[in-house]
Amino acid sequence: MKRDDKGYLTYWNDEGKIRVFSGIQPSGELHIGNLLGAISNWVTFLDDYECIFCIVDHHATTIEYDPQKMPQWIFNAAVANMAAGLDPDRCTLFVQSEVPEHTELAWIFNTVTPYGDLSRMTQFKQKSEQYRHNVNVGLFTYPVLQAADILLYKASAVPVGEDQVQHIELAREIARGFNNRFGEVFPECQAHLTQAKRIMGLDGKNKMSKSLGNAIGILEPLESIWNKLRPAKTDERRQRKKDPGNPEECNIYTSYHCYFSPEKDLEWVRKGCTQAAMGCLECKKKLLDNMDKLLSPIRKKAQKYKDDPEFVYDVLSTGAEKARGIAEQVTEEAKKVMGLIRSS
Ligand code: AMP
Ligand code: TRP
Repeated sequence: MKRDDKGYLTYWNDEGKIRVFSGIQPSGELHIGNLLGAISNWVTFLDDYECIFCIVDHHATTIEYDPQKMPQWIFNAAVANMAAGLDPDRCTLFVQSEVPEHTELAWIFNTVTPYGDLSRMTQFKQKSEQYRHNVNVGLFTYPVLQAADILLYKASAVPVGEDQVQHIELAREIARGFNNRFGEVFPECQAHLTQAKRIMGLDGKNKMSKSLGNAIGILEPLESIWNKLRPAKTDERRQRKKDPGNPEECNIYTSYHCYFSPEKDLEWVRKGCTQAAMGCLECKKKLLDNMDKLLSPIRKKAQKYKDDPEFVYDVLSTGAEKARGIAEQVTEEAKKVMGLIRSS
């Protein structure tokens, strides 16, 4: 391990590549916030980094869920991620609970994580409000497991949306805490954000989220997307077609058009909206067209994977085996410096 040009302790693998790790919860359908804020960013790392992506089922069980449905959700998450561009030939994709070292390292990290740091986590505060009837300890120590996910592979780069930055900073602090106490084992991981750091939901008030019912699924049929898009809130000034609006204050423009539409269409929207030359519905139809251009190849690919579950499960088993190979070594290294395994 060496320091990078920003001064962070960084790990390069035997081929001189930095490892990238990111995780996604198998809780319901992936939405365009995940696609724009996470997966399309992940894809950009495939060629120059060693990429490891994980379906984090142990994280998903910190809120109430239906055990009967979990296997299907895990499968769907694998399908959607692969369809959205995680080419299994160029990355490792696996399911967290198939590599038990994640929970083992999480326990180890529990012992070097200050209680006060965890209680400051915004996501914990939000989720303990949202799921008041089930504020379990797992929800509280969730970021410790997340730190274990990343550091188990000595990953230095973690592409995530803005909501996860605090967790990645905590993971870095945990690495430092461990290294100071026991010796230099873990890199000081850093978050890598995309341009689409925080995609808002259709309500225009909250970030797009599976649990808030304001999301557009990436595999959702076009009619169903239109049924959500048509009534969605636009710039409040545009009550009637002849009122001019301001695209920069319209959720439809800033959260969706900006990412799905080419510059010539954006220009058409800006002009039409500010000059009241077109209605919101017309603008939304153009958006729907552009969304379909991007989503329909993903839907087609997903269907191909859905029709071949054996292939999908094979990718996940191969991924878990590869992940285990690294995870076992790193856990052993950590346990050695902690005095839990005799050194020779
Ligand atoms: P989750 O669905 O919570 O497992 O999130 C998976 C990844 O998607 C994480 O990197 C999140 O930061 C990212 N993400 C989730 N929702 C959004 C959103 N509305 N905008 C941008 N990124 C998001
Ligand atoms: N907590 C992340 C989320 O809700 C998912 C996650 C779990 C993750 N482990 C991770 C993300 C490790 C990046 C790295 O989105």
